[in-house]
Amino acid sequence: MSGADGVVSPFAEADERTIEGALRPKRLDEFVGQARVREQLTLVLHGALGRGRVPDHVLLSGPPGIGKTTMAMIIAAELGSPLRITSGPAIERAGDLAAVLSTLATGEVIFIDEIHRLARPAEEMLYLAMEDFRVDVVVGKGPGATAIPLDIAPFTLVGATTRAGLLPAPLRDRFGFTAHLDFYEPAELEIILRRSAGLLGVPLHDDGGTEIARRSRGTPRIANRLLRRVRDYAEVRADGVVNRLTARAALEVYEVDEEGLDRLDQAVLGALLRRFNGGPVGLSTLAVAVGEEPETVEVVAEPFLVRAGLLARTPRGRVATPAAWAHLGLTPPPAYQGGTPWPPAAAGEPALFDLAQADGDGRAPRGPDGASDQTGE
Ligand SMILES: Nc1ncnc2c1ncn2[C@@H]1O[C@H](COP(=O)(O)OP(=O)(O)OP(=O)(O)O)[C@@H](O)[C@H]1O
Ligand SMILES: [Mg+2]
Repeated sequence: MSGADGVVSPFAEADERTIEGALRPKRLDEFVGQARVREQLTLVLHGALGRGRVPDHVLLSGPPGIGKTTMAMIIAAELGSPLRITSGPAIERAGDLAAVLSTLATGEVIFIDEIHRLARPAEEMLYLAMEDFRVDVVVGKGPGATAIPLDIAPFTLVGATTRAGLLPAPLRDRFGFTAHLDFYEPAELEIILRRSAGLLGVPLHDDGGTEIARRSRGTPRIANRLLRRVRDYAEVRADGVVNRLTARAALEVYEVDEEGLDRLDQAVLGALLRRFNGGPVGLSTLAVAVGEEPETVEVVAEPFLVRAGLLARTPRGRVATPAAWAHLGLTPPPAYQGGTPWPPAAAGEPALFDLAQADGDGRAPRGPDGASDQTGE
């Protein structure tokens, strides 16, 4: 029960997405948090409506489970327009995209999820479509092939991506408005939980909401999921009421700790502290120590640990912060300075072992795009 399918994973399985549909806010004023983005979007959408024009294309970026799909649906609802939903991986050829674009009615909103995964030819077709509301349909093959320009109705594209950094600049530049959705404050998650509990018919006490919100990693999807898990517990083991007591007991069963760390996070942090004295240690060594694939550690556990200020990625390897020692209730070695190899070499004597080097893997972590990724995104 850890990794990408764990109870605090930001990703959602297909059946969970169905449940989520019922919990999505439908209008901008129901959408909790992200105040600045909401304000800006209101101006963009209602400004265009007032002028009788289609609004600029909108790019939504942010981590998984933070409300991008929800916001795309809200945009269409605010405009009173139909919404077409597709995704980067679903559009395999430029022709697939041309087929969708050529059937749009004026003012329709098309949502392309995971737009950073669009195939290159489709992406290039999109440039022209976004800018001039036109696509070039290529007929025939080889030297006889001709491009037939086809006008399409003015539309608004809403793109969503968890990896804005992977979008090619020409595509990014064609969005008139880019909204970055960020993690939520616990107080905002409490409001979301109250709303969800109302929709699900779950009796939720304020102290229960506070307890769940604090452990939800700033992510509405996780908050809603933990609420459902705590409800199960409260119904089976108690009187069905979600309060501080049932929330604490349930989350202990699911191995979600005070800060929202699950078993994998705790294993990673525990190994880093207990076996490697706080680091630095290379990713692959750390992964072996917890019996996981390096990618699982890097993609699932680390981003949250970094954001929670418990782990740092340095060019020499992974390092525990002083807060990590406190979190696990351990005392750092006396000489620990957050990244100094420990035990430190006595003066004039070569270090007994330097984990970062012994490892051969103390280099900066690399994201899938090959770029150095120190931010934990
Ligand atoms: N601001 C919000 N207010 C209330 N509920 C929210 C908010 N943001 C997200 N949610 C809820 O969280 C769940 C996940 O949101 P959503 O599907 O929009 O995330 P996403 O950013 O599209 O994730 P992914 O990157 O995985 O596609 C939904 O059930 C939605 O109702
Ligand atoms: Mg989504």
